Amino acid sequence: MTQVLKKLTVQVLKNNNVENIFAITGVRANSTWWSNVQMGPPDVILGITEAYKKDSNPKKVNLGVGAYRDDDGKPFVLPSVRKAEEVIYKKALNHEYAPIGGEASYTDAVAKLAFGEDSPVLKGKINCTVQTLSGTGALRLGFEFITKHYAKAKEVWMPSPTWGNHPQICNTLNLPHKKYRYFDPKTNGFDLKGALEDICKIPEGAIILLHACAHNPTGVDPRPSDWEQLSAAIKQRKLFPFFDMAYQGFATGSVDNDALAVRLFVKDGHQVTLAQSFAKNMGLYGERAGALTFLCGDEQSAAKVMSQVKIMIRTMYSNPPLYGARIVQEILNTPELKKQWLSDVKLMADRIISMRKQLRAGIEGAGNRNKWNHITDQIGMFCFTGLKPEQVERLTKEFHIYLTKDGRISVAGISSKNVQYIAEAIHKVTS
Ligand SMILES: Cc1ncc(COP(=O)(O)O)c(C=O)c1O
Repeated sequence: MTQVLKKLTVQVLKNNNVENIFAITGVRANSTWWSNVQMGPPDVILGITEAYKKDSNPKKVNLGVGAYRDDDGKPFVLPSVRKAEEVIYKKALNHEYAPIGGEASYTDAVAKLAFGEDSPVLKGKINCTVQTLSGTGALRLGFEFITKHYAKAKEVWMPSPTWGNHPQICNTLNLPHKKYRYFDPKTNGFDLKGALEDICKIPEGAIILLHACAHNPTGVDPRPSDWEQLSAAIKQRKLFPFFDMAYQGFATGSVDNDALAVRLFVKDGHQVTLAQSFAKNMGLYGERAGALTFLCGDEQSAAKVMSQVKIMIRTMYSNPPLYGARIVQEILNTPELKKQWLSDVKLMADRIISMRKQLRAGIEGAGNRNKWNHITDQIGMFCFTGLKPEQVERLTKEFHIYLTKDGRISVAGISSKNVQYIAEAIHKVTS
């Protein structure tokens, strides 16, 4: 031992280099607790943004990012949100902890927004609604609750394709997940027949994940009559509908229209579970304001579920962040602010709808012979263009337009300034 120390000291003094200690002793390799950790794959969307940032071409366009941009390509703070912030500031509130499940003024307001002011489920108090860390937090908490407390078929059936985080959350929880047909590449629309055929084969009691509106990544939503058929099939198979509503208001510009599917299922007697997010429709991305609702059989059952959800939250993050929730509840509970917000949401949805029209007109106007009706048939922030991976690659390499390999574009990244450029580029790579 003394010999080793002597050798070490001499070596260090000689080279005045601490690295030599590690080289001689091998201490560094063994000193890290994390030497077994392998490099994980980068996040696809963030990878696109990184590549976009590095590109110095002035014509570059980022159609990968899932956040709303105004017509100048800038992040948008909703006027209603600004006003709510002023009101909150003047209240000089303290920063005490929120209750474990969030403030009741928030959870009541968001549940009303989703299920409707006069919804019998709210009157009957059969909802267990808690504030979550935005939509992702709601999904994570909801699925985790299922793994622990759901007694029936613990498997989640997801639309094909679905938002990439859905399967990832299930993987983290070891919750099995499978796919039902949803998107039809032949029509770039909804595959009702395929979806119904698959639903009929799902085991009784399994969880079926449904995007309430503005399906991500396809922008393809079932029509109201399709939802009726889906509801009937899901009821017949005795499945557990879990709605992900990350875009209420963002699809059609009307929060009531966009809640149609959720409300229809409730009317049809389904005990739905619902994940809500205010990231997109209030532009509160980083504030992490969301909610999770379990509809239960009766008030007593809702109270029991609530008690267990609270235990789960307590051990996960203790209680939710206040600021975003304060903005949401201020807007939803103040009639003038709510009115302003509804028009803010419509403004965003309308800009997206207008960009869809202009993009389609631009591609068709360039003389492209392919069908492009799906650009305007689809709805919400994302459009599944139908572009093949090699066409996407050309768009990026030759035209500096960045998007995911599956051909999904964020319509929010299109503006009156770049729409023609994008349309012509799409025309060139598809002709
Ligand atoms: C389908 C879907 N669900 C949930 C979310 C959750 O978003 P957040 O956690 O930011 O509310 C998103 C965001 O992109 C989404 O597209």
